[in-house]
Amino acid sequence: MKILVSDNLAEAGVEKLQSIPDFEVEVNTSLTHEELRQVIKEYDALVIRSATKVTADIIEAAERLKVIARAGIGLDNVDIAAATKHGIVVMNTPEGNVITTAEHTIAMLLALSRNIPQATYSLKSGKWEKKRFRGKEVFNKTLGIIGIGRIGRVVADRAKGLKMNVIAYDPYIGSDYVNKLGVEAVTFDELLQRADYISVHTPITQETRNLLNAEAFARMKRGVFVINCARGGIVNEQDLYDAIQSGIVAGAALDVFTQEPPKDNPLLTLEKVIGTPHLGASTDEAQENVAVAVADQVIDYLLNGTIRNA
Ligand code: NAD
Ligand code: MLT
Repeated sequence: MKILVSDNLAEAGVEKLQSIPDFEVEVNTSLTHEELRQVIKEYDALVIRSATKVTADIIEAAERLKVIARAGIGLDNVDIAAATKHGIVVMNTPEGNVITTAEHTIAMLLALSRNIPQATYSLKSGKWEKKRFRGKEVFNKTLGIIGIGRIGRVVADRAKGLKMNVIAYDPYIGSDYVNKLGVEAVTFDELLQRADYISVHTPITQETRNLLNAEAFARMKRGVFVINCARGGIVNEQDLYDAIQSGIVAGAALDVFTQEPPKDNPLLTLEKVIGTPHLGASTDEAQENVAVAVADQVIDYLLNGTIRNA
């Protein structure tokens, strides 16, 4: 069986796939969309991260593809409906990068509160601007988490360690369960009104696209900080820009963007915005976890028909 790995996958995952005698594994991370469309007909499995866009035309050309396996969580780069129509199983690895992404969120929260990227830049350019970079304590502040799933829960746990008050809005998780985590379950409106920090941890869906928009910003506390380590577009970028300019939002930390890499994104011209190039899941540990998990899942499916995380 032929396996194509079309995005960077940690070596441990590639080796695991290669250890199966029946598998012919090809790693090619430089294929253009058109090249992928040309070659996909030869493969039984496609292993990706976020860079490969598995659109309907790719699926149409995938004559013998049985599985698309994503080393990571978000499946927004795969046309799941088209794959399902063609009987192709789509799976992800929902656990392996959860802690890493939650830690990145906390790093962003602290960096935002203490102006660490801006102060580093200033220091390295020969300045000593102590007054300019006075920050805020997170102690006793209220963190509002939107989406208390796998990552949201770990963020809540770490934030409680920093002695923050954590509240959460998630219409799909019962309030009893949320409250048992030591987190207060609140409505969307209450979260917007009470939070000093708002961090989004939902998938991008029709419901969550532009969830934080002008209307939502208008209901927030003046001086709120906003963090998005989930998906670009959950926070409306133009409305965030306006909310920062008008002083409602004191600062934003963004790991994800509607267009990646961002092109002429006005948010990146603002000093109050700090950012990383979609590094939420980028640690040695998480990349090894998701690579090994994805390899195990592909092996189990192709050899035994066992479907996990589809
Ligand atoms: P998850 O499925 O475990 O949790 C998502 C939660 O969002 C669920 O509890 C769900 O009920 C909730 N939710 C759905 N719609 C909602 C809505 N309208 N309002 C409020 N809550 C809603 O997912 P996860 O593993 O915690 O991942 C969260 C997000 O983080 C995803 O978008 C994922 O793609 C992204 N992610 C980003 C990175 C990165 O590199 N920055 C890494 C991993 C995951
Ligand atoms: C994910 O959804 O797992 C992340 O966005 C991380 C990645 O880019 O692989």
